[in-house]
Amino acid sequence: MTVRPDKHAPQSLAESSRAVHAGNDIDPGTGAVRTPIVMANSYALPDDPSTISWSGTDVPLYTRNSGVNQLGLQRKLALLEHGEDAVALASGVAALHAVFFTLLRTGDHVVVSDVAYEATFKLFRELLPDKYGITATFVDTSDPAAVAAALRPETRLVHVEAIANPTTRVADIAAIAAITRAAGVLLSVDSTFTPPPVLRPLDLGADLVVHSLTKYINGHGDAMGGAVIGSSTLVQRIKSEAMVDVGGVISPFNAWLIMRGSVTLPLRLRQHTESAQLVAEFLAADPRIAYVAYPGLPTHPQHELAVRQFQHGFGGMLAFAVTGDADAQNRFVARLRVITSAVSLGHDESLIVHVSGSGARAAYCPEEFQRLGHLRLSVGLEDAADLIGDLAAALDETFA
Ligand SMILES: Cc1ncc(COP(=O)(O)O)c(C=O)c1O
Repeated sequence: MTVRPDKHAPQSLAESSRAVHAGNDIDPGTGAVRTPIVMANSYALPDDPSTISWSGTDVPLYTRNSGVNQLGLQRKLALLEHGEDAVALASGVAALHAVFFTLLRTGDHVVVSDVAYEATFKLFRELLPDKYGITATFVDTSDPAAVAAALRPETRLVHVEAIANPTTRVADIAAIAAITRAAGVLLSVDSTFTPPPVLRPLDLGADLVVHSLTKYINGHGDAMGGAVIGSSTLVQRIKSEAMVDVGGVISPFNAWLIMRGSVTLPLRLRQHTESAQLVAEFLAADPRIAYVAYPGLPTHPQHELAVRQFQHGFGGMLAFAVTGDADAQNRFVARLRVITSAVSLGHDESLIVHVSGSGARAAYCPEEFQRLGHLRLSVGLEDAADLIGDLAAALDETFA
């Protein structure tokens, strides 16, 4: 039976329509067709507040518990990721910490990707072991057998990045989920590089998905946020413990901005993905480029897995280096005139950052990343011809 599409029942809608309509309501006060920004910290209490839970999370009460803009964004994120519930927080790192803080206690063990976002690496290498006595084993999560071998009786969580920052190494989420399910261990996936429709880790058996909303989901480089999506039971615990009691709540203004940015997520991702493939192929063909890491290239070590796992392309993130030392990488970046040298990713504009090959985290990166450092490129929404033209001109000037 065909489902009648209805924006008031957004689960009846296809991907792009969900991104437009989910989580938005006609404002009952003004009749505005977009949920307005509600900056008030507090919401009116009922005549008899004795039944209200001061730690409640789903009724507007106080902005650290919930608010209109946060609730709308959470509804949309849950629908986009095929989860039962979502919690929106102040940043991607607040979302990562919320998962770890809520699920883990002293004596627990975690298996985590040996290549992961800087803060994840630091949390598991230093902060959680030192402060809370939580231990972590770092493994190559592109190898499910290595994940299985690292599990211990006290392992509570496996945490991976679907496409790792910065190496673009790909984890087989379905294979790892089969292992964690069998062992009774939870699986959380940082899917910041692979927002829907590129990947939906919950469909592949993961328990929780984490996003830095700062990146693709907002997409415009003007707001910070993070989210965790999964079952109602797990997300409810995270809301209660990490949001209400620790306080990493998202601001209404940022929730509103991210809600607006996310309307075009499927459309933007198609462009990011198409241009990234062209840029990666251009770089891979140039002899002045030492290496290119992009899952859409047949030379990528997990290309076959990537083809199987990502049915809508491989996202907009790649890493590469020009031949030469750190100074050569810097000279190349300094010559770019369209691509901006700045951290962050998933913005409308292309961003590049030069990261050296030294340090504790780099020790887990492939040999060429350690030897040459890497240029992490977030391919933006500019015309691919302008991006390739900019890279080509900068290469010519660097090697003149
Ligand atoms: C994969 C990944 N996860 C999490 C984060 C942290 O997000 P935020 O900067 O919003 O705290 C980042 C930031 O770059 C990231 O790349």
